[in-house]
Amino acid sequence: MTPAIEVRAVEKHFGNVSIIKDLNLSVAQGERHAIIGPNGAGKSTTFNLISGYLSPSSGEIRLNGNVISGLRPFEINRRGLSRSFQVTNVFARMTVWENVRCAVLWATGHRYAFWKNVDDLPEVRRRTAEILEDIHLSHRRDVPAGLLTYAEQRELEIGITIAGGANVIMLDEPTAGMSHAETERAVALIRRLTEGRTLVIVEHDMSVVFGLADRISVLVYGHIIASGTPEEIRANPKVKEAYLGEEAH
Ligand SMILES: Nc1ncnc2c1ncn2[C@@H]1O[C@H](COP(=O)(O)OP(=O)(O)OP(=O)(O)O)[C@@H](O)[C@H]1O
Ligand SMILES: [Mg+2]
Repeated sequence: MTPAIEVRAVEKHFGNVSIIKDLNLSVAQGERHAIIGPNGAGKSTTFNLISGYLSPSSGEIRLNGNVISGLRPFEINRRGLSRSFQVTNVFARMTVWENVRCAVLWATGHRYAFWKNVDDLPEVRRRTAEILEDIHLSHRRDVPAGLLTYAEQRELEIGITIAGGANVIMLDEPTAGMSHAETERAVALIRRLTEGRTLVIVEHDMSVVFGLADRISVLVYGHIIASGTPEEIRANPKVKEAYLGEEAH
């Protein structure tokens, strides 16, 4: 089967600094794939390259077999890829309801029109309510997103990322800054909402990575030094030396 994502020989330079070097990555349809690696390894840059926020200096990226490198983020989004950012990225002054509705409107092809009352669209209302239910934020629907707790904001963001119905979801450190209990809730949410879709996740919490991922890639200094199942990664001596150390045990 055609992979959901295929990165072939991608390089990225900023000025004369080479940040991503000969990056090759293949993510199968329906797979949950984690990218791990030390700070500054290039994980977020890899996300930016795949989702079109950066274009590769060379190499090629495919989504469901079609070349997407060179396309703009919204074009890649329309082809079924949705990503979240490492830093929380919700509209702070809009309510929880409005934040989700915005994503639903975009996903259902409605473009903003100031003379229309978007709450009159029954399918948009229904889908928005459904997502709020899914992310357990129905009781917070009328609260401005900026007033939510940090964990609630991250959950809202996961909801927004997935709201569009994209079949490839990319989450950049979705549980960063969460308590242990909040992390467990978020992982359950991610697991449920990405059921039957492809997930690429950057994550530092090894219990999340080893609990969630079907496959793991280890990125060190802009290069993937190993890709494999959690067992293969745990047993890989190169990985132990470069990154995992004691964490895997
Ligand atoms: N637009 C840019 N211009 C110049 N250098 C950049 C740019 N974006 C990222 N870098 C550099 O690229 C390297 C990789 O950054 P990146 O954010 O991808 O790392 P990361 O693996 O996501 O790290 P972290 O775990 O801290 O989030 C860093 O050295 C960073 O300073
Ligand atoms: Mg990062």
